[in-house]
Amino acid sequence: MVFAHRGSSAYAPENTMSAFDLAISQGADAIELDTKLSADNIPVVIHDSSVDRTTNGTGNVARLTYRELRNLDAGSSFDKIFSGERIPSLEEVLITYSEKIIINIELTNYRSPSNNLPERVSQLIKNLNVPHSNLIVSSFNPISLIKFNAKLPDIRIGLLTLGGLLGLWVNTPLSRLVHKEAIHPNKDMVSQRYIAQQHHKGLKVRAYTVNEEEAMKHFFSWGIDGIFTDDPPKALKLLGKSQI
Ligand code: G3P
Ligand code: MG
Repeated sequence: MVFAHRGSSAYAPENTMSAFDLAISQGADAIELDTKLSADNIPVVIHDSSVDRTTNGTGNVARLTYRELRNLDAGSSFDKIFSGERIPSLEEVLITYSEKIIINIELTNYRSPSNNLPERVSQLIKNLNVPHSNLIVSSFNPISLIKFNAKLPDIRIGLLTLGGLLGLWVNTPLSRLVHKEAIHPNKDMVSQRYIAQQHHKGLKVRAYTVNEEEAMKHFFSWGIDGIFTDDPPKALKLLGKSQI
């Protein structure tokens, strides 16, 4: 499966409605997005803990209200033609796309790992009656996944992981308590052997962020279950699923 990483983010500003619309029109199998809480506890869709890189504003998402975040331009820093693009709320994304495509929601409460993001997201999913089969919830934070899974046990869980020293805290004994369907590794960790080992454990493997054609070809030939890519058309073409 080809997951449009933050939407079709090579062609439109990441984590915006334009990037998600484009991913759907390009034929991606799924979209991936990052969510965290605003100062007034609204799940919003943005990757970084601050708004500085992707908007015309400054400051930490956790210190800005939803209203303040909505006043920012989340498109111009990518390209002027996207000026006026807004930071979406998770609610808006779920209402717009959850009947149309699989959505991977990444819980990104990494700066405040025990806040109530998992509860807020699960409540939203319940309130909106989102079809559970169209959702995958992932995180590097095992506590968030355990909390989310306790609320909505039939939604698929992917544990994000990375190699090296940074990966140590992710791969704590706590991670083994996560009821996961899949492991979502950094692409640098992935080999044919790694995929076979995870499959042997009964886990699916979806790697991030795979933008190079050579890596895509290797991963597909090794039987990977999914990749997260900024460039869905490149991956879809290799799989013979191209729509354009
Ligand atoms: O979910 C895959 C990938 O998005 C994880 O890393 O930093 O791009 O959110 P990041
Ligand atoms: Mg992400």
